[in-house]
Amino acid sequence: MKKPTNLLILIAVLAAILLSCNQQSNSGGDQKMTAFIDDLMGKMTLEEKLGQLNLPASGDIITGAGSNNNITEKIKEGKVGGLFNIKSAEKIRAVQQIAVEQSRLKIPLLFGMDVIHGYQTVFPIPLGMSCSWDMSLIEKSARIASQEASADGICWTFSPMVDIARDPRWGRVSEGSGEDTYLGSQIAQAMVKGYQGDDLTKNNTILACVKHFALYGAAEAGRDYNTTDMSRIRMYNEYLPPYKAAIDAGAGSVMASFNEIDGIPATGNKWLLTDLLHNQWGFNGFVVTDYTGILEMVDHGMGNLKEVSALALKAGVDMDMVADGFLGTLKESLDEGKVTQQEIDQACRRILEAKYKLGLFDDPYRYCDVNRAKSEVFTPENRQAAREIAAQTFVLLKNDKQILPLLNKKTIALVGPLADNRENMPGTWSVAGDFAKSVSLLDGLKNAVGTEANIIYAKGTNVVGDPQLDARISIFGKPTKWDNRSQKQMIAEAVAAARKSDVVIAAVGESAEMSGECASRSDISLPENQKELLEALLATGKPVVMVLFTGRPLTINWEKANVPAILNVWFGGTEAGDAIADVLLGKVNPSGKLSSTFPQNVGQIPLYYNHKNTGRPLPEGKWFSKFRSNYLDVSNDPLFPFGFGLSYTTFDYKNLKLSDSSLTATGELKVSVDLTNSGNYDGAEVVQLYIRDMVGSVTRPVKELKGFQKVFLKKGETRTIEFSLTEKDLRFYNSDLKFVSEPGDFKVFVGTSSAQTLEAGFILK
Ligand code: BGC
Repeated sequence: MKKPTNLLILIAVLAAILLSCNQQSNSGGDQKMTAFIDDLMGKMTLEEKLGQLNLPASGDIITGAGSNNNITEKIKEGKVGGLFNIKSAEKIRAVQQIAVEQSRLKIPLLFGMDVIHGYQTVFPIPLGMSCSWDMSLIEKSARIASQEASADGICWTFSPMVDIARDPRWGRVSEGSGEDTYLGSQIAQAMVKGYQGDDLTKNNTILACVKHFALYGAAEAGRDYNTTDMSRIRMYNEYLPPYKAAIDAGAGSVMASFNEIDGIPATGNKWLLTDLLHNQWGFNGFVVTDYTGILEMVDHGMGNLKEVSALALKAGVDMDMVADGFLGTLKESLDEGKVTQQEIDQACRRILEAKYKLGLFDDPYRYCDVNRAKSEVFTPENRQAAREIAAQTFVLLKNDKQILPLLNKKTIALVGPLADNRENMPGTWSVAGDFAKSVSLLDGLKNAVGTEANIIYAKGTNVVGDPQLDARISIFGKPTKWDNRSQKQMIAEAVAAARKSDVVIAAVGESAEMSGECASRSDISLPENQKELLEALLATGKPVVMVLFTGRPLTINWEKANVPAILNVWFGGTEAGDAIADVLLGKVNPSGKLSSTFPQNVGQIPLYYNHKNTGRPLPEGKWFSKFRSNYLDVSNDPLFPFGFGLSYTTFDYKNLKLSDSSLTATGELKVSVDLTNSGNYDGAEVVQLYIRDMVGSVTRPVKELKGFQKVFLKKGETRTIEFSLTEKDLRFYNSDLKFVSEPGDFKVFVGTSSAQTLEAGFILK
């Protein structure tokens, strides 16, 4: 063997210094933490290090393949880094005790859970939350979720889900914040702040996990887990910013997505998990796979379990959820030189750092205080907050002749498959909720009207007409309560109830698990049997209010044309029924605005407001024009545009003014508009500001949201609403992926939705 030259020795020494600097910076400069972890890792065997990278499921909630045999034994042997989806402080304390009393190095476990939109007090599904456009409420919901989850043993949540999604066929649109990059980024930050607070070591804050990194929402054809393929420029401008916003807000962990990016599954994608995430964005937390993400790379065609586990580690994955790939194969890969000790150490260090930051080494039971669990979970205050928040997420889509709010109605017919269905109110991914304790719409209306009105309830129809489909939509927990009576019988009962009433409330739509994971639909209309019910109710001549439960935008063209009032309530959480009653009866004036476009039909998908212009745009006001970008059989218009939502009152926009006709690189442009509440109710309006960059070195969207304010105005009140724009707001990624602004003409739009705005222009100098 040749002796190493002095130069080689020098290079090796320099590399070691650089590496240790990098490790120090990874630990956020916390010398004490680094010293502690250095010392601990000095005592760890290879098996124990690999153990830290292992995240088996608890067995309570299983969403994929994979096993979790002998967890207790593995914990004792130091072969488990954390567990997820175990519920209750008692259970978690008992498992933690095994780790800290019976394993050699007594390293505490991380306990994760899908606390997606609340813990036991469940808030509306994230898509609904985003329609509140209220960042303080969104942060508050995450704060309460964190408070409750941490009281019950959880220190890590697999949230926020910030995947931009423009295809409502994809069931997981329900778990995200809709189609818009700017709104999605604001929400991502608010959620991280809510979960993590300003101090992770507090016993009521938990570690956030941004998911699903990345582009999971762009699955082809809206089919879950499907391939994604996208240009870098689109990624950078449209899909990546919400993940980055969450990381900039300090999110401590990231979950790799199931899909591939540039032909390499995210779980094994070094460009994504190391070059972009750590090196470009400066992320210093850890990366966990999604459920069996490593194992799934075998089916992606990336090699056998040993090969894909090595690929994942080298790409930048630190923790293996359920696949057993790291624990089972990395030792052999190390022996064969396929992975390095340094790569294993780095992953192990990142997991230990997270535990350290959570304060688990000081007190492994910090999050398992049984008394806190009794007094801080599902409290009346939290439920009241959930009720108030839910009412802010409902979107009034139609209200002809001011049918709503319902005033002085003596007899109300409440019909529909979602009317008396507590279990479905929390919506998808509400794993800690106690569904039986949710408030159904029937409960809520009864609570609200007391003895002042008579409510006649009839189910009217099932959620879907096909029993086999009904079985498929009930697999993940929430029963649809299939009724064996015939459709004719059920409709007849509903019609009889309607005939005896002053008004009919039809609680229709999807059941909770018709959206969410693995709940893609190729037809996103209301099931035929429910339409039949609506037709029969309308035929009675009674006023019909449609209360629409859904986890995604739906193609409700016929309903829009025929039903006089439509209130979209998503899935409002455990307090849904009371919150819906508050809005129906006028205690709360609805103010939600859509965060995703409702298409007219599936053929228009993907349909989103901030599209490009093309070289052959359809002239404004036209339905069709030959040799223009349009369809023969449907207009380009959405059914309901992004940002749309009515109120019981009306708002007028006047006097859009800019403080100047130009903006300089260091200057500020003030944009103001006079907003008047011109109707008969006090109410809140989300004032939206969009821009358009008229000429660019790359094509720019026809409109881009750049600001919004939710303001409350008394009836008759006028207020001047002011926004400020700077050069930074006009930046975008150019074809070299540089984040720049380009001088030239801009338009600015302010209004009540993406489709109804006032317009002005300025020049960026
Ligand atoms: C989902 C994730 C979730 C994980 C753990 C997966 O099936 O894609 O969103 O966090 O399961 O429950």
